Amino acid sequence: MDLALDVRDLGKTFGGVKALDGLSFGIARGEVMGLIGPNGSGKSTTVNTLAGVFPATSGEIRLRGKPVHHLPEYARVQAGLTRTFQTASVFPEFTVREQVLLGAEPARTRRGVWSMLRSGARMEPELRGRLDEILQLTGLADLADTRIEEVSAADQRFLMIATALAADPAVILLDEPAAGMVSHERDRLSHLILALGARGHAVLVIEHHMSLIMKVCDRITVLNFGEKIAEGTPREIRSDQRVVDAYLGEAA
Ligand SMILES: Nc1ncnc2c1ncn2[C@@H]1O[C@H](COP(=O)(O)OP(=O)(O)OP(=O)(O)O)[C@@H](O)[C@H]1O
Ligand SMILES: [Mg+2]
Repeated sequence: MDLALDVRDLGKTFGGVKALDGLSFGIARGEVMGLIGPNGSGKSTTVNTLAGVFPATSGEIRLRGKPVHHLPEYARVQAGLTRTFQTASVFPEFTVREQVLLGAEPARTRRGVWSMLRSGARMEPELRGRLDEILQLTGLADLADTRIEEVSAADQRFLMIATALAADPAVILLDEPAAGMVSHERDRLSHLILALGARGHAVLVIEHHMSLIMKVCDRITVLNFGEKIAEGTPREIRSDQRVVDAYLGEAA
């Protein structure tokens, strides 16, 4: 299989705590993988280790076949591995379109983008077209020229996904993207995540909202105490007794 992301035997220890223990999984191009498990089971540690927020204690991370586990965070973004951040922007006075532009220029410093925008430099038509397509896809086209501080909390979350998309990632990591969303916003998010897969991205999504996970994922990996206890289709996971005992019994 042609894997966009290939994680082998990933381990992460904090002091004496084994937050991740020998985790292996792969995500193909166009595939949506869910990562679920109880609180403290290692989901965010997985995302942070993949993104390079802190180094793995052991294991390998390959992006389209190339090892990236030795690379710093920004270099992983340049290589095609992007995650969303909780905070909208360092510049809440930016417009939605300007924020997405930040994501399209990972090699440029934020100051550099800032001065480019403020100097009135024209955006190349190719770049502008690409940003417009992303704004459309994420449902933000009508808000393109609105300042970030004026858009809703949910739209700021969609904006974070739009910003990640602007870097044209092979792999996109979403840690609890539905947090704080109400039902119709979660539906909109579900459609977007499905569209990300259809667009050819490999997606890793962490969520406690099981209806969303079951709807959008091709496969699901289940963690418990930092170890993978199951992997399978939503149907397989739902009826896996170990998963029900460790997690779904309480979450469902
Ligand atoms: N920066 C850190 N320093 C020390 N321990 C940490 C750190 N980050 C996570 N841990 C520990 O690693 C384990 C896994 O935590 P992690 O945040 O990955 O869980 P999670 O599955 O994301 O949980 P939740 O569902 O609550 O978000 C926990 O025991 C946690 O206390
Ligand atoms: Mg977490």
